[in-house]
Parts: sequence; structure tokens; C-alpha cells
Amino acid sequence: MELMSVNQTQLLSRIAIGDGHGENSPYFDGWKAYENDPFHPIKNPNGVIQMGLAENQLTSDLVQQWLMSNPGASICTPEGVRDFKAIANFQDYHGLPEFTKAVAKFMGRTRGNRVTFDPDRIVMSGGATGAHEVTVFCLADPGDAFLVPTPYYPGFDRDLRWRTGVELVPVICESSNNFKLTREALEEAYEKAKEEKVRIKGLLITNPSNPLGTTMDRETLRTVVSFINEKRIHLVSDEIYAGTVFGQGGNSFTSISEIIEEEKDIECDHDLIHVVYSLSKDMGFPGFRVGIIYSYNDAVVNCARKMSSFGLVSTQTQYLLASMLNDDEFVEGFVEESGKRLAKRYGVLCRGLGEVGIKCLESHAGVFVWMDLRHLLKRASFEAEMELWRVIIEQVKINISPGSSFHCCEPGWFRVCYANMDDRALQLSLARMRTFVTQGKKSCGLRELRLSFSSRRLDEFLSSPHSPFPQSPLVKATT
Ligand SMILES: Cc1ncc(COP(=O)(O)O)c(C=O)c1O
Repeated sequence: MELMSVNQTQLLSRIAIGDGHGENSPYFDGWKAYENDPFHPIKNPNGVIQMGLAENQLTSDLVQQWLMSNPGASICTPEGVRDFKAIANFQDYHGLPEFTKAVAKFMGRTRGNRVTFDPDRIVMSGGATGAHEVTVFCLADPGDAFLVPTPYYPGFDRDLRWRTGVELVPVICESSNNFKLTREALEEAYEKAKEEKVRIKGLLITNPSNPLGTTMDRETLRTVVSFINEKRIHLVSDEIYAGTVFGQGGNSFTSISEIIEEEKDIECDHDLIHVVYSLSKDMGFPGFRVGIIYSYNDAVVNCARKMSSFGLVSTQTQYLLASMLNDDEFVEGFVEESGKRLAKRYGVLCRGLGEVGIKCLESHAGVFVWMDLRHLLKRASFEAEMELWRVIIEQVKINISPGSSFHCCEPGWFRVCYANMDDRALQLSLARMRTFVTQGKKSCGLRELRLSFSSRRLDEFLSSPHSPFPQSPLVKATT
């Protein structure tokens, strides 16, 4: 699509001609670079490997197996077609009762069954994307603002702001304490906004964090609850990665719901608490657009339910998921196996990067690592970060996302996704990174990154007996 003509700017709305969608960012530019030259093991082996996409494809085989064993779960099979008419006609915005029950149960399971969710409070939306917007529409007016700890998911700039007219105010978190959110940082951001006459209506946290892959500990969550209660502002907890956790001997994630139900010594007005969830990450179903708003505030549930008419989940999807998520044995095995596979991937990537002196923030959630390349920057600046990012995308041919696109306050951090590809693509990306760093070291010193990245050397490495790849032409196509 071409740039808008003068004529168009007069014809269209301010939203249509503005750039409030936030897509003019290296986060999305990287995706474009990938789309122009996508890696394919056979058709385009020197193409860009997509490591900028927070998708979880590690467990799709388990879902496929379940679908083969449960053909009646779909209304489009001979086994399920008898329900087609009823499901195709159902349009109540409360959702299919068995669907809301199944989602509430799954939300409890992904929080270690330490907390229960009421199916009557489940409100549907078009993914977490839609859930965030609906929540903000219910809580704030144009010009109001939400505090958001940095670094944060770039989509928030679009989801919370674009159509609502609400602003985001960063709460600065730093590497010195592993980007942990502190009371001081919250106070500072709040006071600064107040001085600038910005009305803060809420705080949005992402737990587990995208891009950090870390979870918030109980103490931090207690601080958050005290803070929002004292200021009388809302708390929106994005828990889209609740079940995408691994390591540390079991479920290491604590939901805000546990804090407000268990920690009775801190004052908490439940009307201020709202959870955003989705099945995009924990089940690996971003295309199903199953977003959930779970509010403890009745008025918000009511209003969000009415607004959900704009983004309901199709009943065909509800029907299928009701069946799948109500299968306790499947869900149990799925969540456990997902954790194991994520842990393995995380380990392979961190060890591989560690071999060439690249450290990542220690984490145990999400589908990415937060990689520290500060030592590779020519200078400690965001310009230098962008320069390095361009080298990585153009010469190393890996799309990773620079920290600046997550509003990180320190240059040199990058998010690297590892669950949207097969093992071989991951190994290839590691091999490319290794070659990049070792050639850089040899030819010009680490800080001089005008690399002559040699694909011939990489090919030699890949076909050598030391290559991590089995030498087979049967390579899965990846997207
Ligand atoms: C923290 C966070 N929130 C929301 C979203 C949007 O998710 P959905 O695909 O369900 O709209 C994402 C997607 O990457 C995310 O990482």
C-alpha cells in the first residue's frame, strides 16, 4: 500500500491517517526484513531466520494427536457435524457455558490450581490484543494514562493507546537489579506524571514478562497491590504467559489472583484488579484469537461483556476448545510437556550463546531470552544499538528485536525468540551467531563490527563432522 495522498488525508479520520498503531518501529521492521527474505532450509538456506516472533510451536504435535483422537470435537467432521447447526447459530456473548467453564479451569491449572476462576466472569475478546483495548475502554478516558514498567511488549503502544486515546507512562526498570519493578520506580513515574498534569488511571504489569522471561515474586506483587490501592488506580495484570513457564522444580509463576486472595494482611479493593489472558501462548493458538478479560469488578465485567460484541470468539472455536480444555488428562500432560520442551530450548540457546561469551538474563518463562550485547556496541547509545541490530539482520540474517523497541532504558539488550522454529533452525541461528562473534573478534576486535560475515565459512561449518545438524535433506519448512 502506498503513502496517503493529500486527498486521502482530507477524506479519512485522524485515526486512519495517523501513525498511532505504533508499527513504525524496528520491532515490526524486523518482521518486514524477514518477510522479504525468509529462511527456508531448502529453498532459501541463507535467508533471514525469524527470531522476533513470540510464538510457541513446540507442542503443536500434541494438539494434532489430540485432534486425531477426538474427531467429534470439531463440528466439521463426520463425527461432530450433528452439532453444526446449533453451534453455527449460537451467538450469545456470554459464550458457550462449557467453553467459559473450560477456560476458567485452564486458567486455574496454569496457576498451579492454587486459585480458582469464576466462569461467569470470563469475558471474551479478540486475543489479548482486544482484551487490553476493551479493558482500557472500561477504565480510562482519552488523555488518561497507564503506568507500564519497562521494558514492555511493543504491541501495548498500539493495543492500549491507538483507538482509546489513552497514554502510556514508562516506569523505568534497570539491569542493576535484573529489571525488577520497585516501589521507588513506581513512585517516581507517578509523581512525574502528576507534575505534568497527566492523570494516571492504572498500572499495567506483564507477569511473566515479555520480553524478560522473568516472573514477579510475591514481594513485588504485594508492593504493586499496595501501590495501586494507595493511589486508587487500577491494576491490569497481563498473564498471557502464565502456563509458559519452566524450570525451578515446578510452577514458579504467581498470579495476581493468588496475592489478592491469599495475602489478607495487605489492603486490596478487588474492584481495582483485572487480569488479561489469552490462549495465544500457553496453548500456541494465536490464530484462534481467544482473549480473556477477567475482572473482579462487576461493572467492568458488564461493560466489557457488552463491548465483547465487537470481538467475540467464533463458536466453532469455543466448541473445539471446550472439548479440548475439559480433557483433564490431555491438559495435564500438555502443560507438563510444554514446560519440559521450553526448558530444553532455553538451555540449548543460552549454552550456545554462552560459548561465545554472550549472556542472557536468567529466566524461566516465555518463549524468548533477553540477550545482553552491550559489550558489542561501539558506544553505549541507542544509535549504536540500531547499528548492531542492522548488522545482525543484514549480515547474520537473524531477526531479533532491539531493546529500544521495548522501551528499554539501557542500549544493548535484544529479545531472541526460540519457540517458533524447529531444532535445526535454532542450531543454524546459533551457528550464525557464533561465526559472527568469532569472526568479529578475529578480524576487527569486538567493538568494530564491520563484519565480513562469510557464508562460505558457515556452510563449511554446517557440513563438517562437528556440525550439530544431522546431514539429512528432510528438513521441516519453518515460518
Ligand atoms: C505480553 C503480551 N500481551 C499481549 C499479546 C497479544 O496477544 P494475542 O495474540 O492474544 O493478541 C502478546 C503477544 O505477543 C504479548 O506478548
